[in-house]
Amino acid sequence: MAWGAVLTQWYVTAATAYCILLLALGQELDEPYTDADEDRLKSFWDTRVEVDPCCDVILGEPLEITVWFRTDGNFTESAALYVDLPRLTTGTLENLFNDSTDIGLGELDVSPSTLWRGAWEQGVYDEDSPYEGSRLLMVLKPGRTLDPDSDEDMFVRISKRNRISAFCGWAEDSVDFRLYTNSSDFGEAIIETSPRLGDGCRADCFERGVCDYCHEACHCHEGQGDKTFDIVDSGGWTRIDCADYVCPSGKSWAARPTTLEGRGRASLENHGLEECSGNGSCDRTDASCVCAPGFEGDACQRT
Ligand SMILES: *[C@@H]1O[C@H](CO)[C@@H](O)[C@H](O)[C@H]1NC(C)=O
Ligand SMILES: *[C@@H]1O[C@H](CO)[C@@H](O)[C@H](O)[C@H]1NC(C)=O
Ligand SMILES: *[C@@H]1O[C@H](CO)[C@@H](O)[C@H](O)[C@H]1NC(C)=O
Ligand SMILES: *[C@@H]1O[C@H](CO)[C@@H](O)[C@H](O)[C@H]1NC(C)=O
Repeated sequence: MAWGAVLTQWYVTAATAYCILLLALGQELDEPYTDADEDRLKSFWDTRVEVDPCCDVILGEPLEITVWFRTDGNFTESAALYVDLPRLTTGTLENLFNDSTDIGLGELDVSPSTLWRGAWEQGVYDEDSPYEGSRLLMVLKPGRTLDPDSDEDMFVRISKRNRISAFCGWAEDSVDFRLYTNSSDFGEAIIETSPRLGDGCRADCFERGVCDYCHEACHCHEGQGDKTFDIVDSGGWTRIDCADYVCPSGKSWAARPTTLEGRGRASLENHGLEECSGNGSCDRTDASCVCAPGFEGDACQRT
């Protein structure tokens, strides 16, 4: 219990330090550098993303996405505005890899349509960071400018008709999103606020781990679900919430090929990891394996 508290403390401290660091970086973008060249950079602030429906959205369901910002720059049609929106995709859950496509400039259904022409650049699917490269590209219509003296927030809204959806969720105020331009007159900004999307983790991982919103699973602290990702690997999208202690996992005895012929297939198809190697039961009061007769090792991995 004491260790759990210490580790929780450590994570909270580390997370806070990281946030302060990001805040410091964010402020630097707004504040004048001593460097004269950086001094003249125009900035974005009051940046936020809104999503409808919010927040327990069904993943794969089309979203209306609005990006709000303010800028002191003279934004004209010669510059493009980019917004990174990782995890968002034009693909559907049923046909993830086949129908994810770009939407060409002017083809995106966007408002205010008197001001903007938009395009969608579809990121590539990757298991660790799904659709990292997905982004919105906005260009002002000919003759239109954004008035830098305006008191009003500026926005671009992508309608549901574009069928852009979330492949997986994110935490509130996630720092994944960036707003920037291809003009050398502007600095880039990290989107300051965004709503939580998706279910996240049950009971916030009982404060014994860190939630991976995308996979809706916890990275549990050591001893309180340590090695859980090994189990997720072998068990598919098992929901892990750090509620129980989890025992060490080892190569499953059941998954081990008994014949030479089976060996190639088993190594291809199977991560083959199982709690207590599948030949013991887990004592969840202290995370130790009670091995079946004839098996030993902390994960019952030896005979
Ligand atoms: C903004 O840019 C436009 C087009 O280049 C120009 O006509 C206008 O004078 C500029 N406004 C400011 C405030 O710099
Ligand atoms: C920025 O991108 C827009 C749209 O692709 C393009 O028309 C413009 O020439 C680019 N500007 C610069 C400075 O690269
Ligand atoms: C992608 O399309 C091909 C051919 O149309 C089909 O065989 C395959 O199953 C599809 N893949 C997915 C993931 O839907
Ligand atoms: C070990 O696991 C295998 C596969 O699940 C099972 O067939 C076997 O009966 C187990 N042996 C013992 C002693 O539990």
